[in-house]
Amino acid sequence: MTQKKVIFSRRQIAQRVEELAAQISRDYTGRDLLLVGILKGAFIFLADLARALEVPTQVDFVRLMSYGTSTETSGEVHITKDVELPVQSRHVLVVEDIVDVGLTLDFLLGHLASHKPASLKICCLIDKRERRQVEVPLDYVGFTVERGFLVGYGLDCAEKFRTLPEVYEILEPEGEG
Ligand code: PRP
Repeated sequence: MTQKKVIFSRRQIAQRVEELAAQISRDYTGRDLLLVGILKGAFIFLADLARALEVPTQVDFVRLMSYGTSTETSGEVHITKDVELPVQSRHVLVVEDIVDVGLTLDFLLGHLASHKPASLKICCLIDKRERRQVEVPLDYVGFTVERGFLVGYGLDCAEKFRTLPEVYEILEPEGEG
């Protein structure tokens, strides 16, 4: 069994998502928003956030792959699925589950900026600080943690635990689940 403990409960997550949505709705009053979710991890957070927003919102997704293992990254990121809606002149809010090293978002920001959006911001559920190599401007942050192998609410460990409604920290990453 994989040992893990809850670090953010359903209730804590739901409350924080409501708070973020209220703040985003205020900030984007009078504007249309294009949410760009990063697959796969962001799909649950994006679904909850999008439904709590009070501004007209469209949704698109990208999928990015980085070379390297889960504990080491070579710094190379590439797109395997690009946005499908036009980005030019749109107010774009990138929605991410967790920012770790920072290379994924750094790459995506450059890519989306080249399409000349009217504005480009980031909303992430979890800002995990310890391994950050590239500082990326995080405009809306749900929770900040220093370290930890986190799963649940979209986050996976070898595709397991993604659909758990809470966020857990894995205590024994090598364990059999
Ligand atoms: C994870 C996570 C972020 C990214 C963080 O995705 O969901 O998208 O890594 O990258 P960083 O270390 O560059 O900040 P992963 O590649 O595991 O794919 P997944 O979302 O499909 O699980």
